[in-house]
Amino acid sequence: MIKIPAHVAIIMDGNGRWAKQRLLPRFAGHQQGLNSVRTAITFCAKKHIPCLTLFAFSSENWRRPETEVNFLLGLFLRSLKSELKTLAENKVCLKIIGDKSSFSEELKTAILEAEKITENNTGMRLNIAFNYGGHWDIIQATKKITEEVTEGKLKTQDISEEIFRSHLTLNDCPDPDLLIRTSGEYRISNFLLWQFAYTELYFTDCFWPDFREEQFEEALKVYNKRKRRFGYIGEQIEQSPPDFAIIEQKIHA
Ligand code: FPP
Repeated sequence: MIKIPAHVAIIMDGNGRWAKQRLLPRFAGHQQGLNSVRTAITFCAKKHIPCLTLFAFSSENWRRPETEVNFLLGLFLRSLKSELKTLAENKVCLKIIGDKSSFSEELKTAILEAEKITENNTGMRLNIAFNYGGHWDIIQATKKITEEVTEGKLKTQDISEEIFRSHLTLNDCPDPDLLIRTSGEYRISNFLLWQFAYTELYFTDCFWPDFREEQFEEALKVYNKRKRRFGYIGEQIEQSPPDFAIIEQKIHA
């Protein structure tokens, strides 16, 4: 029986190179990448993968040429509006994670609306990381904890891993079981730094616009062959296999 991850995270990389290979502008790669986003969402819904997190724009992506940044912001805004029907059909609950403070009022409103419309959907959870960085997430959690300590709501000696993770943006999702990164790069690129502690990493040379059902199936196949140990040694697992469901629950709690 195939083991289905509770949470898959994806670094969608290679849009620019996909376009360059075809002598197209970089925008064409991002536009085509949107089709792979749709495929990934419907694939997860079909496979009953409960949670999917997509890295669409990192805190560092502002360094790109202004025209490309504007295109990505525009594509995100348009998709938030145009994809709502498909999200509803697939019973997807949508959340946007990242620093929204610098977004335009129009984008902030579209995010609030999309989240509101989908909040009661009972199917999979889709997180889009936009202007997200793992460092930013850890710092914003630290600030909230510091405020609670200052206000006397929390004691310094009570700060634990559980308390810390409860202040991170994905505090209501299990940590990812599987990270997929496309385009042959072997980096985490400031994505979910805290949450990747025990995540299985899968890298493929495939550019994101070419990443479709077949490629996602392959990633799941590889994930199924991984032997997860969560700190135990191999012999312990072979002699009396611990209940990984319970360990995972604890890690995810
Ligand atoms: C990385 O490829 C891709 C991005 C920075 C943008 C991801 C955006 C999409 C897939 C499109 C739409 C998504 C949503 C959620 C609206 P790259 O540009 O770094 O490619 P390169 O490394 O080949 O240059």
